Amino acid sequence: MNALALSNIGHAFLGRTVLDRVGLDIGEGELVALVGPSGCGKSTLLHIAAGLVEPRQGSVIRSYARHAVVFQEPRLLPWATARKNIGMALPERLSGRDRQDRVLAAAAAAALEEEDLDKYPVQLSGGMKQRTAIARGLASEADFLFFDEPFSALDPALRRHMQDIVIRHAGNGRRSGLFITHDMTEAVRIAHRVVVLERRGNGISGERHVPLTPGERDDRMIFETVQRFMKEDPLFRHVEELDERRTG
Ligand SMILES: Nc1ncnc2c1ncn2[C@@H]1O[C@H](COP(=O)(O)OP(=O)(O)OP(=O)(O)O)[C@@H](O)[C@H]1O
Ligand SMILES: [Mg+2]
Repeated sequence: MNALALSNIGHAFLGRTVLDRVGLDIGEGELVALVGPSGCGKSTLLHIAAGLVEPRQGSVIRSYARHAVVFQEPRLLPWATARKNIGMALPERLSGRDRQDRVLAAAAAAALEEEDLDKYPVQLSGGMKQRTAIARGLASEADFLFFDEPFSALDPALRRHMQDIVIRHAGNGRRSGLFITHDMTEAVRIAHRVVVLERRGNGISGERHVPLTPGERDDRMIFETVQRFMKEDPLFRHVEELDERRTG
């Protein structure tokens, strides 16, 4: 059973085609990493999948109950504190106490200090804003998570910590997700499958299943898999620039 099924997706901005005949299925409990060069249409595809942009063509079938989106930019409400921003995505039915516990747990997972929670976005650093947005995604009861390069503003240690949280949160088969990244190590670490979007959004170039399940892979295996993908696998040839932009 698929949690998300995108078929024959086409889109254009100002008459310029950015996506053409893109199909992607994500199974229940599956975490898929989407990679591809800058500007190839990854964010646009994610926005279409999440129902934020209506595609010119194609169909989107969502079979999950609730989703959360962590955008490429933090997209926090400027007039609300970090605490309020994180609590925003929580289901209405939760009581005050449950809401508070959940906000605190998500904030702690995203390495935010309690004193930061009363700050407004303008008072937070770039990385803290991004972590607030990540905490908002984690706090929601979503069974499908969309992540658009969520960790690019974080230092390598924190990035690894956040990857572990995603693995625990979504890599264990209970939730599904689509995770965009420019970092191949990140993709191979957290995803069941890595999908490559063609450089001009002309369909999916191909995909590779990553051996073992997220969380079972050790650093050596991740390193060797990334080397194999980047150096030997023709599928990843056109995403070479990913490697150069790699930070983590
Ligand atoms: N709202 C918009 N109006 C016009 N053009 C847009 C809009 N959003 C995106 N585009 C264009 O669509 C193309 C795909 O953009 P998109 O943001 O999906 O790329 P991306 O693969 O996510 O890139 P990056 O890796 O840099 O985030 C780009 O050429 C971009 O300029
Ligand atoms: Mg993008």
